Amino acid sequence: MTKISAAITAVGKFVPEFVLTNAMLETMVDTNDEWITSRTGIKERRILKGKNKGTSYMAIKAAEDLLSKKQIDPKQIDLVIVATATPDMQAASTSAFVATKIGATEAFSFDLIAACSSFLFAMTTAASYIESGRYKKVLLIGADKCSSMIDYTDRATCIIFGDGAGAVLFEPNTEGFGMQDQYLRSDGNGREFLKVEAGGSLLPASLETITNKQHYVNQDGKTVFKFAVSNMADVCEKILERNNLTKEDIQWLAPHQANKRIIDATSSRLNLDPAKVMINIHKYGNTTSATLPLLLNDYESQLKKGDKIIFTAFGGGFTWGANYLTWAYNY
Ligand code: UT7
Repeated sequence: MTKISAAITAVGKFVPEFVLTNAMLETMVDTNDEWITSRTGIKERRILKGKNKGTSYMAIKAAEDLLSKKQIDPKQIDLVIVATATPDMQAASTSAFVATKIGATEAFSFDLIAACSSFLFAMTTAASYIESGRYKKVLLIGADKCSSMIDYTDRATCIIFGDGAGAVLFEPNTEGFGMQDQYLRSDGNGREFLKVEAGGSLLPASLETITNKQHYVNQDGKTVFKFAVSNMADVCEKILERNNLTKEDIQWLAPHQANKRIIDATSSRLNLDPAKVMINIHKYGNTTSATLPLLLNDYESQLKKGDKIIFTAFGGGFTWGANYLTWAYNY
C-alpha cells in the first residue's frame, strides 16, 4: 500500500489594516525606535480595530483567502483547526464559528491552545488526521488578536505583539512530500515566566484582577529569551540529527517571530546561512499563533517542491518544538 504523507497544498493570510509603528509607540510609552529596533527587530505591527471583532474575524479572512486562491468548495473540508492563544470566548469553540462562517458545513472543528507553539503543535495534529487515511482536507488556521491581552501602558510588552492570521491546507500526498518528523516538548515549570494570570479557572476575572492588570500578558523577558534560544536550537539539532540531515540539506528555517535576536541566536547556533532564515518580524511583530503561517504566505513564491523546511517555536507553558516538512508544490 502506498504510504500517505500530509502535505501543505495551499496557504492564505489576513493582517488588519491598522499599522502601529514604533513612532506611534513613542507617543504612548517611554520608548524609542532605536531601542525597539535594536532589541527586537520590530518596526511595526498590525492591530485589529473595531467593535465585535475577535480572533475569528481574522481567522475567517485568512481561510477565505486560501479558499479563493485554491478554488475549492468549503464543503470538501473535513476538519477545521484554529490554533490560538486568544479564542473569541472561553467556552464556545472559536473554530466552530469559523467553520460555519466559511461554509465548511461538512467539517468538525476544534481549537488548539499551546501559547506561541499553538500552530507548531497543531501542524502535527492536522498531519496525523491526514496520515490516518480517513481525512482528505484539513484546514489549519493560526490566528491571534494579541492586542486583546496587551497593556498599552507597559513598554515591556506593548512593543512586541501584533494581530494577524494565516491558514494552511493539509492534503494527502503519495510522492512522500509533507510532514516528515516532529519533536515537541513542554515544561510546566515555565508557566510563571510568561502568562496571562487572570480570566481563566485559576483566577476568574474580577474587579480586583482588572484593577491589578492581571488580565494582561506578563513576562520575565530575559528568562523567556534564554530558554527560547537554547530550547529552539536544541530541538532543531535533534530533528537534523535523527533525520540524518546537515545544515546544507536544509533550504529554510521557519522560526517563531518573537524577537529578531532570538531568531539570529538560534540560526547561528545551527550555523545556518542567514539567507535560509524566514523573517517578517519587522512588519508584524509577534503574532503568537500566526507567525509560522504568515511566514509561509510571505515566502510562498520562493518555495520549491522538495524544499526541506524546519519549523520551530517557543512559548508560554513553556511549550516548544520543531517540525520537519518538505514542500509539496511550486508557486
Ligand atoms: O513569543 C514567545 C515569548 N516571548 C519571547 O520570546 C520574548 C523573549 N524576551 C525578549 O524578547 C526580550 O527579553 C524583551 C524584548 C522582552 C526585552 O529585551 P531585553 O534586552 O531582555 O531587555 P530588558 O528587559 O533586560 O531591559 C533592558 C532595559 C531595562 O532598563 P534598565 O533596567 O537597564 O535601566 C528596561 O527597563 O531596557 C528597558 N526597557 C525599555 N527601554 C525602552 C524595557 N523595555 C523597553 C522599551 N523601551 N520598550
